[in-house]
Amino acid sequence: MDRIKVLGISGSPRKNGNTEILINKALEVCKENGADTSFISLAKKEINYCDGCYSCIRNSKCVHNDDAREILDEMVNADAIIIGSPTYFASMSGKLKSLLDRTFPLRVNGYKLSGKVGGAIAVGGSRNGGQEFVCREIQNWMLLHEMIVVADKKTAHFGGIAVGRRPGDVVDDETGIKTVENLALQVMETIKKIGKR
Ligand SMILES: Cc1cc2nc3c(=O)[nH]c(=O)nc-3n(C[C@H](O)[C@H](O)[C@H](O)COP(=O)(O)O)c2cc1C
Repeated sequence: MDRIKVLGISGSPRKNGNTEILINKALEVCKENGADTSFISLAKKEINYCDGCYSCIRNSKCVHNDDAREILDEMVNADAIIIGSPTYFASMSGKLKSLLDRTFPLRVNGYKLSGKVGGAIAVGGSRNGGQEFVCREIQNWMLLHEMIVVADKKTAHFGGIAVGRRPGDVVDDETGIKTVENLALQVMETIKKIGKR
């Protein structure tokens, strides 16, 4: 069997922030459990909004030629995708939402993400700052791509959920980091159970 490929995407516009730390923690656990991993931070990426022009239905490609193209290719090549976002007003970041909207061509041209395993991670400055809503939003996107959404494994009830405000704060949230590790374990266990897609 080919090696399992796990892609981690940090949806924060902030370089070296908490979301990046958490995604890398999840990828570390996937690696320890036999996966090849790749990491993408949206921090320095140029991602235009979806214009809703529907030309991707006719031409299979988006009219925008920006960094989203390469990221979509990486998604298609992965067996599992772990996506993290900072909590912004109890939602995902605008940057991540822009990317996820731009994945429309993958859905309308043959459900290219179908059967891939997906996990969500959210970090916020407050303990009950809306992280669960953010995980849910990411998971909804996964469901609409026919992905297999996983979460609960011991403490990762709704995904990886952590607290931290300034960059790096999250390393002190041991409970939150544990949920991220548990999520990554669940991602790996699920792929091993169902086989690569
Ligand atoms: C525009 C904005 C809105 C925010 N809204 C929330 C919020 O609703 N709940 C919360 O807990 N934290 C909120 N925060 C705090 C961030 O989620 C927190 O700083 C997080 O660690 C940022 O992650 P990053 O370091 O990966 O960018 C907000 C921050 C910004 C900039």
